[in-house]
Amino acid sequence: MTADRLTNSNIRVGIDAMGFSGAQCYINMVDLATARGVDPAKFIVGIGQKQMSVATPCEDTVSMAALAGRKALEAFDIDPSEIGTLIIGTETGIDHSKPATAYVHELLGLPSNCRQFETKHACYGATAALTSAADWISSGRARGRKALIIASDIARYGINTPGEPTQGAGAVAMVVSENPRLFELDMQCVGDYSSQVMDFWRPLYSKYAFADGHYSIECYLEALAHSLKDAQSVSEDLSLFKPENLAACFYHVPFVKMARKAHTCFLEQHIDRKLDLKDITDKEMFTKSYGELTAPWLSINAQVGNIYTGSLFLSMIDFVSQNNRELENRNISIFSYGSGCGASFMLARVVEGAMDYAQALDPRADLEKRRKLTIEEYEKIVALAEDIDMNDGLAPDPARWSLKGNIFYLGTHNHSRQYGPQSMRGQLQRAG
Ligand code: HMG
Repeated sequence: MTADRLTNSNIRVGIDAMGFSGAQCYINMVDLATARGVDPAKFIVGIGQKQMSVATPCEDTVSMAALAGRKALEAFDIDPSEIGTLIIGTETGIDHSKPATAYVHELLGLPSNCRQFETKHACYGATAALTSAADWISSGRARGRKALIIASDIARYGINTPGEPTQGAGAVAMVVSENPRLFELDMQCVGDYSSQVMDFWRPLYSKYAFADGHYSIECYLEALAHSLKDAQSVSEDLSLFKPENLAACFYHVPFVKMARKAHTCFLEQHIDRKLDLKDITDKEMFTKSYGELTAPWLSINAQVGNIYTGSLFLSMIDFVSQNNRELENRNISIFSYGSGCGASFMLARVVEGAMDYAQALDPRADLEKRRKLTIEEYEKIVALAEDIDMNDGLAPDPARWSLKGNIFYLGTHNHSRQYGPQSMRGQLQRAG
């Protein structure tokens, strides 16, 4: 059987709907810098972050995923019965065995013939899910149904570590379908890269990630160069990858400054030499390219922080929410990196009419409603995090943190995680 008969390459497949739901509290990076005795310019300019979302004990991978999934379905008028696959990409799973999808499947009322599973590869997990869903549709196995892919994570490095200013919490949901309304993926020339590196990891016994921070930046850039080359090697038209032919370049954004480093590396692959930002011509070229293709879509990341699997897709939400109609029908590049490490580089097209969803996708109003925490409150939440997954331990109380909505993590009782609006506090002992 030929490859053409195995996969229907004529099917247009891609991202049909998106939705973001983040943690409802945040801290200000100036406050954090002051508390740590660091020059605030290091966090604001050097790292590029203004604020950082903080998950309270009532918000976890499942609750954020369910809220993001519900937003995507409702905003794009998709009935749950249309979903045939649910995949959650996460590196902050809530059980060694049971996938987060089992809970989200129930919370969203998805059909019983909808398969569901979780994928893990650090920040790359949701990209693996996205491309698998696109393959599922292209193969014909979807039978006209859509896939719901959710990237949901809480980034935790711990107090006073170098990674502390690069935490965050949130989920991005994407519906993948034929004839997508937002981004059509070019599945013919996806470039991949894998290498076993100890740049960032989280052992089974730890809630906190370990990172060799500066080395992780090198690994990320190495993976970008290799996966770009791999994508180019299978493309019939190399001009598609030229920065001047792209409407936007999206990168995994663990912190905003990393996207700037990534775009520098991307340009260097095209000119086949290092950029010298002290040279006026190189500086002008970089500033124009970064200012047009990447920087405009990083303002939401700067307020939310690293949401691991969802960070890349959050900047794509930022892109659509800005309603630049002249960027429809243009190509974009997408680079996904997961520590450990695995990466993909791919191209996609902004579908005509995508910007009709600018308002529906814009998360700015929700970000404004977040509650600002003092550093003392944030540190209290970090301390509570040790306890929230214990059996009959803490009974998280949404009212204590002024949370809105109706999907919360309510603690673990009888060794089962509890979700929903009904408080279990009467049955449990200590409230957090
Ligand atoms: P650090 O060592 O504390 O910071 O950690 P630094 O000394 O490298 O400074 C950071 C930047 O601030 C530098 O800029 C400084 O010059 C600048 P750069 O040279 O990089 O352009 N700076 C200042 N700027 C203005 N005014 C000042 C000032 N002082 C310094 N006064 C690091 C930084 C990112 C390493 C740390 O936060 C960390 O370890 N983070 C976690 C790891 C990480 O995010 N790695 C990114 C690549 S790996 C990845 O993306 C995957 C990941 O998301 C996980 C996954 O896949 O699941 C992490």
